[in-house]
Amino acid sequence: MSVEDCRLVNLPKYSDDRGSLSFVEGGRHIPFDIRRVYYLYDMPVDAERGAHGHLALEQLIVPISGAFDIILDDGTRKKVVHLDNPAQGLYVCPMMWRNLCNFTSDAVVLVFASLPYDEADYFRDYNDFIKAAVKS
Ligand code: TYD
Repeated sequence: MSVEDCRLVNLPKYSDDRGSLSFVEGGRHIPFDIRRVYYLYDMPVDAERGAHGHLALEQLIVPISGAFDIILDDGTRKKVVHLDNPAQGLYVCPMMWRNLCNFTSDAVVLVFASLPYDEADYFRDYNDFIKAAVKS
């Protein structure tokens, strides 16, 4: 997989004088069924999260509040994506190293995932990831 396979997804947005509403449907806005949802919050502004890759997991990462950067790395190329719009998410394909950083103090990260949590799906070591990414 390549960083080019990771793309911004524009989500529906219904706004009126009461505020805005966005939603995500698996198989419609993202190319997978949603099996898990998790969220990151209370990050110190100098925190770095992620720093891992996944063998099979697909994700949609949505900046529900605030802003942050995602650095994608497919083993050959890197791409930095700034997320700050709750009506737009980043689809992250399998075999992609990712770092999340530069969180604003109000940042909340919502993640829709294609699989239940499974530590066996993680690459926690960058060198192991690179070896596997070069082969794939
Ligand atoms: P981790 O994936 O390392 O977080 P991040 O990528 O944001 O830095 O997960 C942190 C801890 O939370 C780790 O011990 C595993 C646990 N965890 C679950 O139990 N279930 C989950 O769905 C997730 C995402 C993490």
